[in-house]
Amino acid sequence: MNRKIAVIKGDGIGPEIVTQALKVLDRVAERYGHTFYKTEVLMGGCSIDAYGEPLTQETLSVCEDSHAVLMGSIGGNTTTSPWYQLPSHLRPEAGLLSLRKNLGLFANLRPCVLYPQLRAACTLREDISSKGFDMLIMRELTGGLYFGERRTEAVDGVMTAVDTLKYDENEIRRIGIKAFEVAMKRRKKVTSVDKANVLDSSRLWRKVMNELAAEYPEVTLEHALVDSTAMQLVKDPAQFDVMVTENMFGDILSDEAAMVTGSIGMLPSASLAEGKFGLYEPSGGSAPDIAGKDLANPIAAILSAAMMLRYSFDMMEEADAVERAVAQVLDEGYRTGDIMSEGCTQVGCDRMGSLIAERI
Ligand code: IPM
Ligand code: MN
Repeated sequence: MNRKIAVIKGDGIGPEIVTQALKVLDRVAERYGHTFYKTEVLMGGCSIDAYGEPLTQETLSVCEDSHAVLMGSIGGNTTTSPWYQLPSHLRPEAGLLSLRKNLGLFANLRPCVLYPQLRAACTLREDISSKGFDMLIMRELTGGLYFGERRTEAVDGVMTAVDTLKYDENEIRRIGIKAFEVAMKRRKKVTSVDKANVLDSSRLWRKVMNELAAEYPEVTLEHALVDSTAMQLVKDPAQFDVMVTENMFGDILSDEAAMVTGSIGMLPSASLAEGKFGLYEPSGGSAPDIAGKDLANPIAAILSAAMMLRYSFDMMEEADAVERAVAQVLDEGYRTGDIMSEGCTQVGCDRMGSLIAERI
């Protein structure tokens, strides 16, 4: 099969981890007889440096013309980097938000899995971590608080800022359908997270989720409030299978869920549009403090490439092979610094990528 991939290496550790993911994809292509045409484009801080804006029309066009986008990470240190002296629409993050909106990437899938090999890295008490957990956060990505009307202005001489949280029922339904569909392929449980005791948008969200539940009788739907969910995530993460939620709630809860796995460098993500198109990136950030030192963990980027094979290219066997190779390398005791524990062998980013590629 031939597939076109737009590659955005981005900033910080982005270039080094994406290089490892590409190494793994080259190996998949060779092993399974595929051809991946890769086009590298800039987005984020590196694009600001080169073109004065975080997302150019050229980058957007290359992405639109591809079957999928593989991304590293964007942004820098928000207190020291000159990018954060720019007006907000010219900062690195604005490029990512605009890319999500323009490509219609409304469904963000963030799997949070506690790898049995990495249980020691888990920040939770042993009696909780020993149960393990494997959940998927389905975050709405092109609406809600991130994309509602906003402004800052003086009202009667007092500086006032407004952000709005708006959803229509169609936006809620399409993300709900994605959540129920993946739940059917997993443990058939959906937890819809909202703030229905306060917000109108949440009450509409709940109503639409209830309507959808009637169409998926095999799936158990449960509603939970976002504050209580933040608590449950550290108390008993094993109770969750698929969690579906508003953009901002999902941003916060997915970082929390990632952290309790103890290894944000392990967690991939997929941002899907209607149809097969998607953008794949690690859940973690650009980690400018360790950039260029061969210290970063490339596994999240490699597992993001596996999600691309699975969700955009329907290459299930190939995706399984990548995930198996990752598990095998962990079983053999290889670790990057972030997940290192006693008795294991510490390796750098490049070596970790090679070890995984060799096992496919
Ligand atoms: C994420 C990031 C982004 C977000 C930033 C970089 C705009 O935190 O992907 O979770 O808030 O969505
Ligand atoms: Mn985030």
